[in-house]
Amino acid sequence: MDFDLTDEHRLLEQSVREWAGREVAPRIRELDRTHTFDRRLLPQMASLGLLGISVPEQYGGSGMDYLSLGLACEELEYVDTSLRVILSVHVGLNSLTLLSWGTEDQKARYLVPQAQGERIATFGLTEPAAGSDARGIQTVAVKNGDRYVITGEKMWISLADVADHVLVFAWTDQVKKKERDPSGMSAFIVERSFPGFSSGTLTEKWGILAGNTGFLKLDEVEVPEENLVGREGEGFKIAMFALDQGRFTVAAGATGLIRACRDASVAYAKQRKTFGVEIGSHQLVKEMIAAMESDYQAARLLWLRSGWLKNAGRRNTRETGLAKWFATSASERAAGDAVEIHGANGYSDEYPVGRFYRNCKGAVIYEGTREIHKIMQADYLLGYREDRPSRCELPAVERLP
Ligand code: CAA
Repeated sequence: MDFDLTDEHRLLEQSVREWAGREVAPRIRELDRTHTFDRRLLPQMASLGLLGISVPEQYGGSGMDYLSLGLACEELEYVDTSLRVILSVHVGLNSLTLLSWGTEDQKARYLVPQAQGERIATFGLTEPAAGSDARGIQTVAVKNGDRYVITGEKMWISLADVADHVLVFAWTDQVKKKERDPSGMSAFIVERSFPGFSSGTLTEKWGILAGNTGFLKLDEVEVPEENLVGREGEGFKIAMFALDQGRFTVAAGATGLIRACRDASVAYAKQRKTFGVEIGSHQLVKEMIAAMESDYQAARLLWLRSGWLKNAGRRNTRETGLAKWFATSASERAAGDAVEIHGANGYSDEYPVGRFYRNCKGAVIYEGTREIHKIMQADYLLGYREDRPSRCELPAVERLP
């Protein structure tokens, strides 16, 4: 077991840290307050290689390993969750899914421009009435000659108003839809420019305010059959596979958020005095800071293990789910305690911990709620859920750093 990061990993960590610290940290309060998604960050992230971070070079990516993806997510969320969300949907849920399930033609037309940051991508599974219950989606795709006609609505979609390409899930078998048999679901690449496609931004959101979240409407959108990902009926597995990658980015990101809460709390505890001493001298404050450190280290080990399994091309659904559940729950604890350590100042946007508190909650809910992950972990132990290899894993990393 080697706990050391390579020089290549450290260099990446440092360059993402410097970029986010220089380009985003000084402006994040304003972007958050004004609910502004700053599109100008995308080409900068592309030039750092982040938008194709663990996509192989032959498909236009940076060819880094999956640990690098996690490290980048940690550093991005250290500054703001909205930055990490970009990698979650664009790389984790979409590009890595195309890498594993897409045809060579789909990779050339979609994965390459995505990896180079020329096109932005997202993932369309969730619907107004179907979140945790992924089998409950209502969107349908009806075959008509060499096209599928897709009708439905997607909700809570990150980058809804930004993305050029969306991986959309829909029922292609209407009988199986009634029976809730997931082998009737299929996955499609839908372009924003296809007639009948529209999107909008949700403005009532109270966290991740510098991120774009919205809905998609598909009104008889005609999608060429070449845009079917995998085979007809494989859509549910593709969605679950995609979530194995998305949840990994969420876990690593939430770990960065715990570290941000820890660092802000340590700095404040040494600066603020009560009863004539720094508040860091008070035992109850120490306890909260110490818990942030143990949660940070544990969360980090869990996502590193999941990334290590991905690097080896091994099944990791169970480990990734645990990493996501633990890190997001721990980030909620850390953010709550960070606000308390800051006292009344924690309740003001003058300090970042209030933003951390608002931001952490989303990840407890999306990409599998805490309850879904708890049930899955218990079901593995109880033998109600089989921990078996997926039909399709990420390609193992050929050249480990
Ligand atoms: N990889 C590949 N295949 C998988 C898989 C995986 N990780 N997990 C399951 N499958 C396959 C199974 O092998 C099975 O196929 P076979 O019958 O051929 O073996 C098939 O998929 C069905 O699997 P299950 O019976 O396990 O499925 P389920 O119905 O029991 O799953 C659930 C239940 C785990 C709760 C699932 O519905 C779930 O994860 N729900 C949460 C969904 C979620 O996280 N949504 C958030 C989306 S994020 C978003 O849309 C927002 C955004 O910003 C983009």
